[in-house]
Amino acid sequence: MVIRLAAASLAGFLALSSAPAIAQAPGPDVCKNCHAGYVETFEASIHGKKGHPKSPANAGGCAVCHGDGTEHVKAGGGRGVGGIVNPSPRNKSMPAEAKSNICLGCHSDNRHLAFWDAGRHRKNDVSCSNCHSTHGGNDSLLRVENPPIQPYVNTSQVPQHEVCFTCHRDIRAQVFRPSHHPIQEVKVRCTNCHNPHGALSHAMLLHESVNEQCYSCHADKRGPYLFEHPRSRRTASPATTRTAAARRGSCGRRRPISARTATTRPSTRARRTT
Ligand code: HEC
Ligand code: HEC
Ligand code: HEC
Ligand code: HEC
Ligand code: HEC
Ligand code: HEC
Ligand code: HEC
Repeated sequence: MVIRLAAASLAGFLALSSAPAIAQAPGPDVCKNCHAGYVETFEASIHGKKGHPKSPANAGGCAVCHGDGTEHVKAGGGRGVGGIVNPSPRNKSMPAEAKSNICLGCHSDNRHLAFWDAGRHRKNDVSCSNCHSTHGGNDSLLRVENPPIQPYVNTSQVPQHEVCFTCHRDIRAQVFRPSHHPIQEVKVRCTNCHNPHGALSHAMLLHESVNEQCYSCHADKRGPYLFEHPRSRRTASPATTRTAAARRGSCGRRRPISARTATTRPSTRARRTT
């Protein structure tokens, strides 16, 4: 973690200290000759806004994420030509960590990203660009590929769960069951319960335990009740919420839309995050 943070701040430092050098790098006007679409989508995104003092548009433009394109341009462009950097998820030759560090150079102080290092995504080589795009994402820069045609969707507002479903197909299946949280209706979002940027909690939940997560909206279910599920009550007590057994006896037992059956979840899974 320390190493990665150091690397991120180094990247940030480099981004700042090499600003004059990057300023010499060919900018959007040059790239436009061959990549008009990418320049357009960049300029339309929040990253392309000159009005924002810290935006990539004011920190070197394309070069902030793609490196100095001088040689790439001289050579007439091309894939892998002139040392151009490509943080795309499709680019398998660049490690996920290196892709993310480009973004963390500016975003590491965001409080939502505080536990990025501890999160399951980083640990499984998911990078920022797997979920975000500077080129043609939605308003939150979420990656929009093959926008779905659904009654609730218009293209600039493609809901976040579509991004998640590209990898979490099992969760997608669960959300379409008859009994489900209104996720595809966009009343409840994945990020109402999870922090996709990482968390120390079980399953990267926003709250400390599954029960607390449920009570955050279903406050009426907190109790105390006249007739209680003994196990449930015990597990909700702060003293035991951290054990795997406690979690299995919690609201999660009633299988929130996105949980697998208890039998398929190895207990180590729950224990891991303690
Ligand atoms: C003379 C035309 C030309 C210019 C100017 C140009 N490129 Fe390219 N670039 C290309 C071509 C062609 C490809 C290969 C695209 C493909 O195969 O789909 C490419 C590929 C890329 C890639 C993907 C590289 C990879 O290895 O996968 C990036 C990123 C890129 N260009 C960024 C830029 C940036 C930033 C600029 C401006 C500094 C720029 N290009 C200027 C022609 C150009
Ligand atoms: C904030 C970082 C960032 C900035 C600034 C940025 N890009 Fe990109 N670019 C990316 C990422 C990440 C990808 C991977 C694909 C995606 O996100 O859509 C990408 C993809 C590309 C590709 C396609 C690569 C491929 O695999 O074929 C081209 C070409 C490109 N960018 C050109 C540009 C140009 C030209 C500019 C400046 C106008 C620019 N980019 C500014 C992050 C950035
Ligand atoms: C040069 C600094 C810089 C770099 C590099 C950079 N960003 Fe940003 N980004 C910004 C700024 C400034 C904003 C405007 C919002 C803010 O103040 O945080 C922003 C906004 C965003 C947003 C939020 C959009 C919203 O809804 O407000 C996302 C998501 C984002 N960036 C992702 C990325 C990703 C992914 C990368 C790497 C491919 C990246 N950024 C690289 C500076 C940067
Ligand atoms: C697993 C998917 C995923 C990954 C990986 C991911 N993000 Fe996000 N990010 C999201 C979602 C979802 C949102 C919430 C967008 C919304 O408003 O719907 C978000 C929001 C953001 C925001 C705006 C948050 C705010 O302050 O309001 C920033 C900035 C951001 N991400 C940066 C990053 C950076 C940098 C990385 C890589 C270190 C990254 N993200 C990796 C899914 C992801
Ligand atoms: C109402 C809260 C809630 C919402 C909304 C929600 N989840 Fe979950 N999710 C949970 C809880 C609680 C768990 C942990 C279940 C357990 O282990 O008992 C979980 C577990 C998971 C897991 C890991 C468990 C496994 O099966 O391996 C993934 C992946 C996941 N959710 C993805 C998503 C995605 C993607 C969305 C949006 C489509 C989403 N979740 C929406 C509450 C929620
Ligand atoms: C590029 C693929 C990819 C995308 C996109 C993606 N995930 Fe994941 N996610 C993974 C992988 C890989 C893991 C780790 C393997 C596992 O635990 O199943 C994971 C694990 C998780 C977990 C389980 C954490 C745990 O501790 O068990 C949750 C929750 C989760 N993702 C939520 C989301 C949400 C919410 C989104 C959309 C905002 C999302 N993911 C988008 C690949 C992805
Ligand atoms: C972000 C707020 C939120 C959180 C957190 C939340 N819920 Fe919900 N829940 C809702 C909403 C909204 C509905 C739909 C209510 C309606 O349609 O009247 C719902 C409905 C339900 C339903 C009824 C589903 C059906 O078939 O209609 C159950 C059961 C449920 N929640 C259980 C849980 C459990 C268990 C948790 C904890 C893992 C949880 N909820 C966490 C908002 C939330």
